[in-house]
Amino acid sequence: MRVMEIKNPFNAPVYHEKYVDSTMITARNLALKNEPHGTVICADFQSAGRGRQGRNWHIESKGNLMFTILLRYRKTEALPKALTLRTGLAVSLALEEFSPELQGLVKVKWPNDIIIRDKKITGILAETDGNNVFIGIGVNITQREFPEELREKASSLINFIPLPGENPHYKLLEFVLSELFHEFEEDSGKNSWHEKLTKKLYKMGETVVFSIGAAGSEKLIKGTLKGINKNGELCIVPEGRETIEEFPAGELKVY
Ligand code: BTN
Repeated sequence: MRVMEIKNPFNAPVYHEKYVDSTMITARNLALKNEPHGTVICADFQSAGRGRQGRNWHIESKGNLMFTILLRYRKTEALPKALTLRTGLAVSLALEEFSPELQGLVKVKWPNDIIIRDKKITGILAETDGNNVFIGIGVNITQREFPEELREKASSLINFIPLPGENPHYKLLEFVLSELFHEFEEDSGKNSWHEKLTKKLYKMGETVVFSIGAAGSEKLIKGTLKGINKNGELCIVPEGRETIEEFPAGELKVY
């Protein structure tokens, strides 16, 4: 069903389904049907929600925000760089606009999580088929209970701020779309994301443990988080060393 009341600055349709397997799959089908750049599909429930590195994304109920936006590029070379990080920046700014009480509290955990007070609130999954980009975003808004294995790590906006009465997920979606439009259309050539993101980087300047490379990698290093470089790689000075090492893939182990 097309939702007319949601403002989409990309000037493209916003669809809403009650049940889908994953909005990532629906978005790929919409791309095959020639839906335009900026088309959005959101859902109340996903039976096969996907997370990064082959994990599942399971959030419970209606009231959370789960959507994928389709961005179309004519050539692979035109695909935006540092897509996941820049999406994280856009979502973190949108959360602060949605609720000014969150100002200064929203952090981006490299490469794809949004953290408030050490708890994961949002996950981001960016995929591409060469020309099309599919950016999937899940924000925990109203969920109070989490499965045991997530209880220590995850939380919801409702635990931090009073939510606006009606359809908070639609309201937040508008802010996110506006920030995505700003980042990938209006500001696309300016490269201002790097400085803005560095200020919001989770654990910046702190000691971290980092697992290098693919999911489940046993190769861990401990060191001081120094930031990100212009390619979006994570910069760490390992313990006992003085020079920065740059990591294109891996996972921060602490939060
Ligand atoms: C992660 O933290 O591993 C990324 C989670 C991404 C979840 C969103 S929810 C909407 C979209 N559809 C999916 O199946 N996944 C993304």
